[in-house]
Amino acid sequence: MQQVFRSSYRAPSNIAFIKYWGKHGNQLPLNPSISMTLKSCYTEMSMQLSESSNMNVDSMLFEGENKPEFIPKIQSFLEKNKDKFPASFNISLESKNSFPHSAGIASSASSMAALASCLGDKFDFDLNQTSEIARLASGSACRSLFPNYAIWGKSSYLGSNDEYAIGFSEFHENFSQMQDAVLIISAEEKSISSRAGHELMNNHPYLKGRIDQANRHFDQIINAMMTGDFDSFGKILENEALSLHALMMSCENSFTLLGANSLKAIEKVRAFRKETKLPLYFTIDAGPNIHLIYPKHEEAAVKKFIESELKNLCQDELVIYDEIGQGRYKL
Ligand code: DP6
Repeated sequence: MQQVFRSSYRAPSNIAFIKYWGKHGNQLPLNPSISMTLKSCYTEMSMQLSESSNMNVDSMLFEGENKPEFIPKIQSFLEKNKDKFPASFNISLESKNSFPHSAGIASSASSMAALASCLGDKFDFDLNQTSEIARLASGSACRSLFPNYAIWGKSSYLGSNDEYAIGFSEFHENFSQMQDAVLIISAEEKSISSRAGHELMNNHPYLKGRIDQANRHFDQIINAMMTGDFDSFGKILENEALSLHALMMSCENSFTLLGANSLKAIEKVRAFRKETKLPLYFTIDAGPNIHLIYPKHEEAAVKKFIESELKNLCQDELVIYDEIGQGRYKL
């Protein structure tokens, strides 16, 4: 009888403060990024693996349903990177997400971090190797393994590199209990995949400027997080998110992902901050949804503001309240 190895992991999603946007070679980032690991938005993945003479994904169940359309992406990642594994294998996968399927939240970070964790379990990979496998499956996934914050991409921060992410634990206690409330402005499928979005950086007229900016933002935000400086943190966070969208709008085949309600929410957040002086800031990924980042001690005032002024800008009034999390774990 064929030996079957089984492993199950829960891995969370993450929200980037400095964005990974653009790549080269085999999934290497154009610039360093830093993210906060989330807690309530996660994937649970179960893997059954048997060693074999070829690499094959036999089946993929998602939330109890057969999803053959999810197989080719994983299959090609495994084939392309088979030299990273000591043996080839056949796998069957089963996964589910904690967040609603239609919430417009990218699940590649959490699902590929969970898959890499299962594979790392089989082959006794250390954290660096597991993060590298996650990166090869989906760039942002390599940051989802770590508690609190993770850094990926070569930068002035000691130990950072392009191959795998590392944890960032030198943050000031002001940053120890950060919250992320996700305003689901639209739950519709994105009009452009992030994979295609990254490609548009290759011939971007602002490519050099962007790489310089990302490195500068990275150094500044690390400094703000180490010294507990919310004000500088928020300025960089918001500038970074808007720069990401400006890059999309100014590339050759320009596209826009922000919706009218995304802009309304941004204006309301700015007005709220001006009035209350509370440390509430936004960031945005490659989509229309707005992530609101704030410390736990301001939770009551922020929730009141969201419920009364922002919820009505969201599709089906959906807001997902999440917070800083502790990374993946074995189930
Ligand atoms: C805007 O990690 O989804 O969320 O490597 O092609 O799978 P692939 O891309 P992906 O890109 C994420 C882009 C981003 C910024 C970030 O998370 O850093």
